[in-house]
Amino acid sequence: MIGVFDSGIGGLTVVKKIFEILPEYQILYFGDTARTPYGNRGAEVIKRYSLEAINFLIKKGAKIIIIACNTVSSVAYDFLKQKIKIPLFEVVTPAVEKAIEITLKNPKYPKRAVKRIGVIGTRATIDSKIYKKLIENKTTKIKVFQKAAPLLVPLIEEGWLKRMETKRIVKKYLYPLKFAQIDTLILACTHYPIIKNLIKIKIGKRVNIVDSGEEVVYKLKKYLESNSAVAKELIKGNQHKFFVSDLTSHNQQIANYWLQRKIKLEKINL
Ligand code: DGL
Repeated sequence: MIGVFDSGIGGLTVVKKIFEILPEYQILYFGDTARTPYGNRGAEVIKRYSLEAINFLIKKGAKIIIIACNTVSSVAYDFLKQKIKIPLFEVVTPAVEKAIEITLKNPKYPKRAVKRIGVIGTRATIDSKIYKKLIENKTTKIKVFQKAAPLLVPLIEEGWLKRMETKRIVKKYLYPLKFAQIDTLILACTHYPIIKNLIKIKIGKRVNIVDSGEEVVYKLKKYLESNSAVAKELIKGNQHKFFVSDLTSHNQQIANYWLQRKIKLEKINL
């Protein structure tokens, strides 16, 4: 099975993309809802929690792991890669590759010699500077501007998708990136695709948007096409399993809403 790990239920936006792009595969999901959010935590704790979660998915039969969480991908991937023996996909690299490609091909400001990419994410993701380092190390033709947007996760989980307050906060977070006249914006958090339209309006329609969750699924698709032995090991079908470390009716409700289908979250103890 394809194991999908997230700090909570946000990773369901990545599951939604798997359902669209790789619909035949069975999913085994784990969201660490008892300990979410990870985005304001330190690296040590994020690494420890993530290792426990991924080992749980492997025990349950995952043959491949997607780390849906940007925070974990940014802070703990190098550590996890050393500990985990099965293929492990993170969301940062695919987003970086796509953002570079689209920025150079379709910049909003074509006359400028050095193009500009903006990144929004949790505090841990932004503090890691991973997007900035990876992009600026790969090319001198792009400069990266980043902004932590810690209030967006709780607002989105609260369902405040169209409220005035949310619009104001999104505008405020995006202001420095808009001021920097970015060509492309990377949505470096599981939750942001839920308010993609609002983000698009606030940053400006001609700015390219890259969704890290979508890009990792395209990367996985390519990988499975060229690694048929691994693809064969994955179970096909729709008996998906969704495990969480804490279960509330609110989480169950938003899980159904975000996935736009009825699923059953099951509580487990790690
Ligand atoms: N899943 C996290 C991410 O993508 C957001 C929620 C959290 O902070 O745990 O960064």
